[in-house]
Amino acid sequence: MPKICSNFAEKPAKMNPNSLVSISDLTKEQMLSLLELARYFEENPNHKILDGRVVATLFFEPSTRTRLSFETAVNRLGGRIIGFSDASTTSSSKGETLKDTIIMVSNYVDLIIMRHYLEGAARYATEVTDVPIINAGDGAHQHPSQTMLDLYSIYKTQGRLDNLTITLVGDLKYGRTVHSLIMAMRYFNPTFRFVACKELQMPREYLEFCDQNGIKYTEHTDFDADVINTSDIIYMTRVQRERFTDIMEYERVKDLYTLRNAMLEGSRENLRILHPLPRVNEIDYDVDDNPKAYYFTQAKNGLFTRQALICNALGINPLKDKE
Ligand code: CP
Repeated sequence: MPKICSNFAEKPAKMNPNSLVSISDLTKEQMLSLLELARYFEENPNHKILDGRVVATLFFEPSTRTRLSFETAVNRLGGRIIGFSDASTTSSSKGETLKDTIIMVSNYVDLIIMRHYLEGAARYATEVTDVPIINAGDGAHQHPSQTMLDLYSIYKTQGRLDNLTITLVGDLKYGRTVHSLIMAMRYFNPTFRFVACKELQMPREYLEFCDQNGIKYTEHTDFDADVINTSDIIYMTRVQRERFTDIMEYERVKDLYTLRNAMLEGSRENLRILHPLPRVNEIDYDVDDNPKAYYFTQAKNGLFTRQALICNALGINPLKDKE
């Protein structure tokens, strides 16, 4: 997939400080404050604090959860939404550049939430506008709002973020959610297991990131009882068909890892199964009724964490306002 900036690029000088492009834009303290705010919104989902604010959702790539939960978040906070979910209905289909689209939309709104198929597109957008940008996924690069809901889900189910064994399974090459999650967990002394076939292994740059940050990890091709029964979190991922240039290669690897209920028999009591969704064949339907299946609640947590992220991007903190 083409990139328009490095995965580990520094913040551009012009970037609005409230923008969120990469999870690495947030300090540990900021992440913990956002989780606290998410919990507030889970308890108070209809706090109308965005009166008069307009938010744009620009989705150049398909989405169900991310777009709808961001839009629900704005609605529940009392703001207004404009945007598109199909760029072919916009003037980008006539050749308008991303730069011009961002400048134009910036004339209308207080915040832009954007998903794009190009790695680095969100970072680029921050260079052409002063309006804060939230990256809702850019190619195989980053998905920071997903990471915040993943952290919230891990915290809620485990009671802590520290010292957990987290097994990431499937498409570790193209899966932007696992890339963001590794970067966020660097503050919490995790042990990662990376389970993937050789074609979809964790990219070298993320292994180097682990090495540089003292993150323990092991790589596996077998998704077996040894791995499953010693995990606190199993994070399944979909093989990202849209990022393959060779469809035959996709066909070869798409069904290599499927979690079935019987495989969980010896698993830890506290184990929870996460998946950013959508799933294709990675989790059998017979897992859905297992109390360790958490992926649908995980997606629901996206609403509360995105309410927190929107407030953060707009410089609004209902917890401070209450003090
Ligand atoms: N997890 C996630 O990004 O889902 P969508 O692609 O449906 O937004």
